[in-house]
Amino acid sequence: MRIDPDWQALSVEAARLIQVPLSELTASGPDRAREFSLRVGPLYASFARQRYDTAARKVLLDLARNAGVADAFRALFDGEKVNVSEARPALHTALRSDLGQGEAAKAARREVVPTQSLMLAMAGELRDSDVTDVINVGIGGSDLGPRLAVDALRDFSDGRLRIHFLNNADASAVQHLLRGLDPAHTAVVLVSKSFGTQETLLNGAILKDWLGSDDRLYAVTANVAKAAAFGVAGERVLPMWDWVGGRYSLWSAVGFVVALAIGGENFKHMLAGAAAMDAHVLSTPLESNLAVWHALSVIWNRNGLGFDTHAVMPYDERLALLPAYLQQLVMESLGKSVRPDGTPAPVATVPMLWGGTGTSSQHSFFQALHQGTDTVPSDFVGVVRPAHPYAESHTALLANLLAQGEALANGADDADAQKRYPGNRPSTLFLLDELTPESFGALIAMYEHSVYAQSVIWGINAFDQWGVELGKRIASQLLPALDGVDQSAITDPVTQALLAEIHARRKIS
Ligand code: F6P
Repeated sequence: MRIDPDWQALSVEAARLIQVPLSELTASGPDRAREFSLRVGPLYASFARQRYDTAARKVLLDLARNAGVADAFRALFDGEKVNVSEARPALHTALRSDLGQGEAAKAARREVVPTQSLMLAMAGELRDSDVTDVINVGIGGSDLGPRLAVDALRDFSDGRLRIHFLNNADASAVQHLLRGLDPAHTAVVLVSKSFGTQETLLNGAILKDWLGSDDRLYAVTANVAKAAAFGVAGERVLPMWDWVGGRYSLWSAVGFVVALAIGGENFKHMLAGAAAMDAHVLSTPLESNLAVWHALSVIWNRNGLGFDTHAVMPYDERLALLPAYLQQLVMESLGKSVRPDGTPAPVATVPMLWGGTGTSSQHSFFQALHQGTDTVPSDFVGVVRPAHPYAESHTALLANLLAQGEALANGADDADAQKRYPGNRPSTLFLLDELTPESFGALIAMYEHSVYAQSVIWGINAFDQWGVELGKRIASQLLPALDGVDQSAITDPVTQALLAEIHARRKIS
């Protein structure tokens, strides 16, 4: 396979820097922390603990430049068909900013603005009603974004409504949730772009029966006809569009429950935070573009240094769901090994993303981060000013946050091998001034744009997800087989044996 010259240059830099301890790079001069940090509005990022130097960063920037990242951002915002396999644009930026110049982007804006007003008006009405609880039924992008935002922005909720989430096909969650709820005071929002997702339809059918009336049944979907056929009244259906990917849809009416939780004004602040990041990303040269730096750091660790996982550790309980949210955003977008023309990606693509909150994770998997055989590049996310008055706790949290990056980078020697820390383990630190709707919107938009920049450099499509389809197809063949109706479609001998085992045990119970 032909290796692109840019990747060769990257390998040369990596071979040089693999010999240089990170502690040496960071000790190289007082300017490093400044040179390798950026501030965009309420978000500060330090890349000083990445294992690159100025020369390597120049090669990385060349990689981004030659891949056409700046033009690709313009194409994204303008509504070009960047989702090649589905021949459509990915216009999530049009949900929050007015920067697209193409006709598709302008047409999208014309639909977005009135829909947003309708959504906020509906949220206002529901907040003024006698409803006490709202259940968001959706999965993947129809669940993770709203769930993260409601949790992260809890300090901006007046507590008027309790918001619940149902995603899995496992109805034990439904059963458990419904025990504590009154159907007369509960609204159900079915969120599904396709309105064809098995889990959502199963949970939706249970809840529709439980509600006993369609008065408090809402839908958010790009398939309005299917929602109507399901029994959702037209005036309670909020539209979305095929040009927004599920994992990029928080900013659309998919965020209905977020607006219910934090109110319309705060929802708009969240959009404004994302829009400010959009403006930064679109108008800032690669050299000082935060999303590009983040993308290049991931690429350096993956393709230069060869690390195959990436951890995200928020040091704030309100961001506990960030790793789960990013798992979909990053791995569903970048979990590809071929380019749109079917040829293999020239280098390894997405690292496996995982993580957990600090400080709790320090008492579980951090042992492996410090002394395990694998190096795990990490993003740490902290908040400078807390939303509570307990200064001593917050100081402890920040001390731990700073300590981990330093310990991972510098390590420590000891006569006893058991107590030796190899160090040399890279991390990026994000600091939010405060966790507000604006800073939250900016952080999430930064990750979205980083993912897109990575996809452009790797030459893969960030906006399809064909990989999830095969399992769905096999599961649908298995439904009649599990019900004992028809096993003829099941030809795999291992699956046949497993079915026999399940059938035998089902009879016992
Ligand atoms: O199966 C994957 C997926 O299509 C995700 O991309 C999407 O966010 C999720 O399922 C839910 O899809 P929908 O909103 O259409 O129910």
